[in-house]
Amino acid sequence: MRFGVCYYPEQWPQERWPTDAAMMAEAGLELVRVAEFAWSSYEPGRGRFEFGWLDQALDVLAAHDLGIVMCTPTATPPVWLVRERPEVLSVGPDGRRRAYGSRRHTCVTAPAYREEAARVVDVLLDRYADHPAIVGWQVDNEPGNHDSARCWCDACQAAFGTWLEDRFDTVDALNEAWGTAFWSMTYPDFAAVRLPVPTVTSHNPSLLLAHRQFASRQTLDFLRNQFQQIESRVTADVMLTTNFYGEDTAVDQRAASRLGGHAAVDSYPHGPRDPMITAYHLDLTHWAPGGDGGAWVMEQQPGPINWTPDNPPVPDGQVRVWTWQVALHGFDALLYFRWRPARGGQEMYHSGLLRHDGTPRAALAEVGDTIRELRGSGRVPPPAPSVALLQSYDDAWAIEVNPHRRGLTHRDLQLGAYVAARRLGLDVAIVDPEDDLTPYDWILAPALHVATEKRVAALVNAINRGSRLVIGPRSLVVDRHGKISDRPLPHGLTDLLGARVDEMLSQTEPLTVEPWGTPAGVWTDVLEVAGGEVVATYAGGTSLDGRPAIVRSGNLVYVGCSDAGTWTRFLAGVTDRVPRPDHQEVFERTGGVGARSWRATIDHRTLDVAITLR
Ligand code: GAL
Ligand code: ZN
Repeated sequence: MRFGVCYYPEQWPQERWPTDAAMMAEAGLELVRVAEFAWSSYEPGRGRFEFGWLDQALDVLAAHDLGIVMCTPTATPPVWLVRERPEVLSVGPDGRRRAYGSRRHTCVTAPAYREEAARVVDVLLDRYADHPAIVGWQVDNEPGNHDSARCWCDACQAAFGTWLEDRFDTVDALNEAWGTAFWSMTYPDFAAVRLPVPTVTSHNPSLLLAHRQFASRQTLDFLRNQFQQIESRVTADVMLTTNFYGEDTAVDQRAASRLGGHAAVDSYPHGPRDPMITAYHLDLTHWAPGGDGGAWVMEQQPGPINWTPDNPPVPDGQVRVWTWQVALHGFDALLYFRWRPARGGQEMYHSGLLRHDGTPRAALAEVGDTIRELRGSGRVPPPAPSVALLQSYDDAWAIEVNPHRRGLTHRDLQLGAYVAARRLGLDVAIVDPEDDLTPYDWILAPALHVATEKRVAALVNAINRGSRLVIGPRSLVVDRHGKISDRPLPHGLTDLLGARVDEMLSQTEPLTVEPWGTPAGVWTDVLEVAGGEVVATYAGGTSLDGRPAIVRSGNLVYVGCSDAGTWTRFLAGVTDRVPRPDHQEVFERTGGVGARSWRATIDHRTLDVAITLR
């Protein structure tokens, strides 16, 4: 595993760079990411390029054997460009152009922005494609973050129309797929389908879903253009990726990772505040590229940050634990964000490994020690899970546009199963339902909301080959346009299950699940059995008392609720494993010379890391 740091030479005097580079190398860092927000520093006016400083910075870093990750600058186009071509700016749902002054203010569909992006990437490649110190390229920065993927500009409106026509061919097909007979929304032609601007009350969820699918696809096109430009100019050993903020569902992160062949996540554990959610994001990223693609943490929280509501302190030993967690989830590289905190600008209270005055924080020594510790501890055996957890953005978006309970997210439903598996010490591969499922003994599908014939066929095939499939509430309910199936639910699996969903209910009472007395959580699907075996029932003094909560038939199980406590008890029973508390994360691997089994435990509360070989 390689370690590095995010660095902004343009924000510091040139005389300081050699000191910084020497300190980085001294700490054991090998990689430096640069230039993702540097556009105005190397092109202060159209065609007026000032690359001398960047050349110089790369030379200084290379002189200390630091490998460079070069970034394209398209997350922050400069003010001169925006003034010259305002049509590059995105438009909000209120129809107003977004202002410059922050970041991610452009439209990925606007032809003018595509042209400007291609131009600047070409210029960068002309200068740096063959630079010997560059080991990787990062395209853009956090595409879609800050809810920037969806745009309401004229170019998007036109492209949305074309995309719908390609998809549906006739407007009648669209009307049928979206159920527009409801509220008299039958569209006479494609031109009548407007992007969802504010209305008196809610929009048709199928329109909202289509907008999310479209926005993700447009972003992927934008990224693909850049990947292709870079790929055609650099050698095959150069790593290509883009980086996402862990939580973000604006863009299909998996599809984007596959464009470059590598996945990268920006990991800020103080965002979700729960080590299990960080673990979920890490696994999501680790498995995203599929095949033999690698995964990087492109930005790792190094200390206190500036953007959560209260920005709590980071105790000594915490950065070490976060680093171990990334290593144990199988990552190839980790870069801390950032080297020295900015003196000005929006993030001036975000810490780095140094202080504002350029002296090291304690975290720098901790990082150096952790790198040495990891290198000295021998190879961390990579995860080779027998458990797959299915995840896709289509499911996330379909629930996002129509959650049926305010604030409920696809990820909330996913976590019940994920946390249960992690409590049992099981490594989890988070994969797309259309990926190869053959390597897995257990397939967990806690929130597989969208039913397609292809998905159902793949699941039936997996069951027939001997995998055990556990599906969760709200699974196989809608088609890919968000319309509810006209078949018994879960769509396509009721015969195999020997049961069907009778009701899908959001709960306000604290229901439990018997025989364990574990919580049901906020969502309860109630099952009606026809041959399946009832494994657990609801309790709690409501009309659901005694109704089936979990039903099983052979290798297929339906769990009607989402709480991790219930999933844990169920999975513990069928896997014969003992759960650990959430603040302890266990990694059990085989491998390692002379060792039969290898186990690492992180205690996220006491901040201990222990490795045992047996
Ligand atoms: C990331 C972003 C960085 C920086 C960081 C602050 O999401 O990519 O540019 O803003 O957050 O924590
Ligand atoms: Zn647009």
